[in-house]
Amino acid sequence: MSNESVQLIYPSDEIVKNAAVSGMDAYRALCAEAEADYEGFWAKRAREFITWKTPFTQTLDESNAPFFKWFADGKLNVSYNCLDRNVEAGLGDKVAIIFEADNGEVTKVTYKELLAKVCKMANLLRSKGVKKGDRVVIYLPMTIEGIVAMQACARIGAPHSIVFGGFSAQSLRDRINDAGAVMLITSDGQFRGGKAIPLKPIADEAFSMGGCESVKNVIVFKRTGGDVNMVAGRDEWLHDGLANQPETCEPEWVEAEHPLFLLYTSGSTGKPKGVQHSTGGYLLHAIMTMKWTFDIKPTDTFWCTADIGWVTGHTYITYGPLACGATEIVFEGVPTYPDAGRFWKMIQDHKATIFYTAPTAIRSLIKAADSNAAVHPKSYDLSSLRILGSVGEPINPAAWQWYYDNVGGGRCPIVDTFWQTETGGHMITPLPGATPLVPGSCTLPFPGIQFAVVDETGADLPWGQGGILVCKKPWPSMIRTIWGDPDRFVKSYYPADFQGKYYLAGDGAIRDADTGYFTITGRIDDVLNVSGHRMGTMEIESALVANPLVAEAAVVGRPDDLTGEAIVAFVVLKGARPTDPEAAKKIIKELSDWVGKEIGPIAKPKDIRFGDNLPKTRSGKIMRRLLRGLAKGEELTQDTSTLENPAILEQLKG
Ligand code: WTA
Repeated sequence: MSNESVQLIYPSDEIVKNAAVSGMDAYRALCAEAEADYEGFWAKRAREFITWKTPFTQTLDESNAPFFKWFADGKLNVSYNCLDRNVEAGLGDKVAIIFEADNGEVTKVTYKELLAKVCKMANLLRSKGVKKGDRVVIYLPMTIEGIVAMQACARIGAPHSIVFGGFSAQSLRDRINDAGAVMLITSDGQFRGGKAIPLKPIADEAFSMGGCESVKNVIVFKRTGGDVNMVAGRDEWLHDGLANQPETCEPEWVEAEHPLFLLYTSGSTGKPKGVQHSTGGYLLHAIMTMKWTFDIKPTDTFWCTADIGWVTGHTYITYGPLACGATEIVFEGVPTYPDAGRFWKMIQDHKATIFYTAPTAIRSLIKAADSNAAVHPKSYDLSSLRILGSVGEPINPAAWQWYYDNVGGGRCPIVDTFWQTETGGHMITPLPGATPLVPGSCTLPFPGIQFAVVDETGADLPWGQGGILVCKKPWPSMIRTIWGDPDRFVKSYYPADFQGKYYLAGDGAIRDADTGYFTITGRIDDVLNVSGHRMGTMEIESALVANPLVAEAAVVGRPDDLTGEAIVAFVVLKGARPTDPEAAKKIIKELSDWVGKEIGPIAKPKDIRFGDNLPKTRSGKIMRRLLRGLAKGEELTQDTSTLENPAILEQLKG
């Protein structure tokens, strides 16, 4: 991109004037401040934005790098910072959550009411013996109770680990087992798109697999009214448990490094890893990004459409907005029910001012709007909006432009926020009242964040040259370790390639030759991004080979207009390769359902192809590069002379 071809889109004077970070000079000044005194930059905000029980005296402790510590001698409580201090500041009657259920029913909860709910839940957990440091797995849909459960855990210092409601029994079992959880909080079921989907029966199945023996209590929230099996002495209805709990609860004041939560995410090898986050540093970045990336103001109505099962839901639903005393919308349902105008109608009804969603959702809504004017954003009054956001995957310029023109009416900056489960909050993102925008670019690092594009040896690459995305300095909200596996933490994120000095994001990136703006070029490991959900190819392969029909499997991604990437599986069966299309169809369905059961429906391959073998080098290595080409339907022009068995390429063409 040269300056002639790049058209920068500038924020309006109105937005710039009122923004927390107002204009590029203000952005540069913050970056310069962090450059001049890195620790001081973060310490200043940590003192200003967080209420500490015991103030910290030490900012960054690098003595045991890469296990960095931030604000280590300070004590605080996240739930206090999100709730009590807002009530104490006079916001008790302000609406904290506008909850819209799948069926359209709206419930509003004030800060005072939310605090009381969290205290009751925290008291219930304590009454069951849950104490500081105990892990609680939460397997709940998008409901007020999900947020309350997370906040209650934070209140008593029990790290939570949310398992997304779309994950299977096996996935739930593995996470409970790895975390050694003492409690599970779940619901009878969840509503999605007008249907009631069971959850508790999945939890029962997880328990029946063995390995969940650490769980002493299961709390069940009644959401759908579906039939559930309750195990005497272990399972209890939430409403029964809450019945006599007091509405006040002294918070557990924890050290800043105390783990606030674990969140499992996919890596390139092995089982999902439990990303461990801290209390103080994590909260700081949640607040700073709410203030600077979203420019949150007391008058805003903030809406992040993520699920609490993902990190975006943690930082930008459960913690960030509440820590800033904001009013936020929480949505149970799906964007296409009762029709694809649901998001736009909700923005209109609740007068949302900041809207944060994923490119996949936008792409699917573009498609729907193109064929039905009634669900086009232009059919709704979206004039309340002032800032738009995107997260989870690269947003293609066409979708960006549509979002900008049709949802934002050409007046709302789009913050394309690049970050990861491991980073806790935004890393590279425009600031709405400062950064000129370029569709498809996440632009520049958040103030203080030291991202760079380097080569395999860690040497800086010039702008215009694609390479590996690293972060050169530790930052407060970074992953602290992988739960129970510190070696894997070091290997995954601080590899020897960079002398253990740089955080390896796992993505490739390129900086524009003129502007220095970052564009993420995609994962450089075997992690796929399907509809903004992270999936390890190895995880899906392991699930496939666990099926009795399958001898071998290789999984790759291919670009998909709607989901960003789609999963393609190449499978060698133990029996003969099906040549009859009907027989093949049957096996494809069986394998796809199997993966859905092993991991969750989001991991189901879009395309399954059979071969007598997989393309391998003479040394037996699967040639994934070839498979990626085949998956895309490319004509194979590569040299296949090193292939052991070139004939099977024909079978795998699909
Ligand atoms: C990708 C989600 C381009 C990236 C918050 C990253 C993005 C992975 C963007 C993390 C973006 C996320 N532009 N790519 N704005 N945001 N990604 O852990 O590959 O679910 O490494 O965190 O999503 O996914 P995760």
